[in-house]
Amino acid sequence: MHKNKLNNSLNLKLDHVSNALKKSVKNIDSYTHVRGESLYVDDVIVRQGTFHAVVFDSPKAHGIIKSIDYSKAEALEGVERIFTCKDIPGKNEIGGIIHDEPLFAENEVHFWGMPIALIVAKTEFIARKARELIQIEIEELPVITTAKEAKVKGSFINAPRSFSLGDTEKAFSSCEYIFEGETFSNGQEHLYIEAQGAYSEPLENGNIKITSSTQGPTSVQKTIANVLGIAMHKIEVDVTRLGGGFGGKEDQATPWAVMAALATYYLNKSVKLILNRHDDLRMTGKRHPYESTYKIGLSKDLKILAYQVEFLQNSGAAADLSPAIAERTLFHATNSYYVPNVLSKVLSCKTNLPPNTAFRGFGGPQGMFVIESAIAKAASKIGVSARQIQETNLLNENDTFSYGQIAKKVEAKNTWNSAKDIFDIDALEDEIEYFNKNNATFKKGLALMPITFGISFTNTSMNHARALVHIYLDGSIGISTAAVEMGQGVNTKIMQIAAQVFSVSLDKIKIETTNTTRVANTSPSAASSTADLNGKSTLMACNSLLERLKKVASENLNVLEENIKLKDEFVYINDEKSNLSWTELISKAMFNRVALTENAHYATPEIHFDKTKEKGHPFAYHVYGTAIFTTTVDCIRGTYEFDSVKIVHDYGKSMSEGIDLGQVEGALVQGIGWMTMEEIAYNSNGKLLSNALSTYKVPDVFSVPKSIEVIPVETDGNDMAILKSKAVGEPPLMYGIGAYFAIQNAIKAFNPNYKVKFHAPMTPEKVLMSLYSE
Ligand code: MTE
Ligand code: HPA
Ligand code: MOS
Repeated sequence: MHKNKLNNSLNLKLDHVSNALKKSVKNIDSYTHVRGESLYVDDVIVRQGTFHAVVFDSPKAHGIIKSIDYSKAEALEGVERIFTCKDIPGKNEIGGIIHDEPLFAENEVHFWGMPIALIVAKTEFIARKARELIQIEIEELPVITTAKEAKVKGSFINAPRSFSLGDTEKAFSSCEYIFEGETFSNGQEHLYIEAQGAYSEPLENGNIKITSSTQGPTSVQKTIANVLGIAMHKIEVDVTRLGGGFGGKEDQATPWAVMAALATYYLNKSVKLILNRHDDLRMTGKRHPYESTYKIGLSKDLKILAYQVEFLQNSGAAADLSPAIAERTLFHATNSYYVPNVLSKVLSCKTNLPPNTAFRGFGGPQGMFVIESAIAKAASKIGVSARQIQETNLLNENDTFSYGQIAKKVEAKNTWNSAKDIFDIDALEDEIEYFNKNNATFKKGLALMPITFGISFTNTSMNHARALVHIYLDGSIGISTAAVEMGQGVNTKIMQIAAQVFSVSLDKIKIETTNTTRVANTSPSAASSTADLNGKSTLMACNSLLERLKKVASENLNVLEENIKLKDEFVYINDEKSNLSWTELISKAMFNRVALTENAHYATPEIHFDKTKEKGHPFAYHVYGTAIFTTTVDCIRGTYEFDSVKIVHDYGKSMSEGIDLGQVEGALVQGIGWMTMEEIAYNSNGKLLSNALSTYKVPDVFSVPKSIEVIPVETDGNDMAILKSKAVGEPPLMYGIGAYFAIQNAIKAFNPNYKVKFHAPMTPEKVLMSLYSE
């Protein structure tokens, strides 16, 4: 029905494929998105007789389950069955890194919202009614909600990790300035638009198919197999796209899929389980809050000589991805700066919050906030601008990171200097000074925020992906990879790669759903590496097919292979168009019994990391950038606006400029939200207070910066990135940290007595208190 319009929207005149594509490509999902036709889990057309499920969860943060009475719920008309830990045929265990998390609570509950049972009924409404009829008695135990309390009580997820470079003790003794301090950064709710959910269908012979809103289809498959005690090949996981993940579905999409599968396993019926927003907010983990202490030492000429930092990560009640996130905090503890002597330590503190999890930046933002705080504090004590200290310490080519990797193709200074020049930082500063002199009740503040973010899963063994490419008889192409489309545009990029290799138009290519039967044993779509890993494997598969097709063309046209090129859906001989079209070439290949399917495996070369030494070369490359923030604070109300954010960003050579710009803008605003307005609150009993959109404020159209300018840095790009187009998903989130410091500078312009607390987010309430603090 929509075919013509769809073709129009994708149709491109392919003059020179790569350039034309790069400039004009739109996210291939934009057409169905704006029409509301894109498919999510809740849009799956369910089978007749599908059951609906609701999770019964703990109403206390910590305690012993004394009794549960399901009888009234079970007696409710329309309730099919209630599943608990007793029904699990395999292992009641869903922990990926550490096996410390049950699917359903057994005798003890560890957080408010911890799943205890699954109610399966004819309708969701009935299942919810039934949930209200369950009676539970819990003997309460002491509740830990903060990382500090956990540290005092010795409550940890695992052993601490520590990176060190040089000798901090010795270095501190030769410092002109030494400062110590504490910081706090709060958690952050993912607030993906599509809540967690899964749909499970029985196939024959006890096989089960799951449609899941997950970033990690293989984790879902593996965990279902473990919990059900059956082989992985009996489970097929399929993902069309996510209505956002942001890390929140790297691990935490799994339990709901497992529960639905468990019900299907017993009932041999389809089961749909989609959390409503309240359930999702209460039951799922968020970005980790961090409490940190630091000591920073500088020379007379503002060189940071030594930096010591201890991060307390509030991990929640189980490990989830916390150990990996803690590790990334250490990797990014010095942000864009070269510090010759570093001692960093992270403790994953076990508390009675829902297990906190991956969130865009994956612990990196928390690490960077601390060194930016340390620099800001040092600057105000010494009486210089933070800018001076930042600039003095930016990374140079061949500097060593605390984890041993040598910085190469560094763009830290390039983006910094370009931002200063392009956006005329001196004029901006003058403007702000002038404004602040002439305004009593409004004050402006400025801050610069450089970023350096490592690309690759920090766990080397996860850096691989596969692509399966079919060319069909009519010349159309189907591509399957491990990539999960979550709004970041990875499907469009993969399409562009194939279009470029074969020189065919985008409408010849279809990106298939992400499915574990077509591409197996995959890493999650995460670490900003999805396009690099899956794109490179797609490139490899397409190149192999291209070689084969060139051979067919050479035999058919009787010319040497090296003189053959595919261009605009025709075979060219020495740059001259032949009569052989793409479609005819495919027919000939088929006739000659040439395989038109290829599978390729890509594993990032060169990377390695030795955890026993905490040294190595974990990242394929780094992404750099610099943002300049200006803000205006209303000093009567404590409210603020961001006048502008001006960024010079290291895209490498962007292959999809519109998509990449969207990623920078989205991440920036998400980072600003984390630093300024999004305030997660639990009470001392571990109950989530910010449990609705009325009590948890995310940036809206009124709170985004009045102007965002993003200029690509001039660079050669990096061959480790797909077509030299660098990963872009997470790094720009950390620009948001600049928002925090811009506000602080505006407050200082109003209240010279103000002492910055380095406690984020900087909500208007806190701004107001700070404006009038002594
Ligand atoms: N963009 C959108 N629209 N939706 C998302 O869920 N997730 C972010 C980022 N950008 C996300 C997004 C996160 S946390 C990561 S790791 C990357 O996208 C994942 O995709 P990539 O590896 O293709 O960059
Ligand atoms: N980034 C994101 N997700 C991950 C990582 C990482 O480094 N490691 C494991 N999951
Ligand atoms: Mo992103 S936090 O690596 O899913």
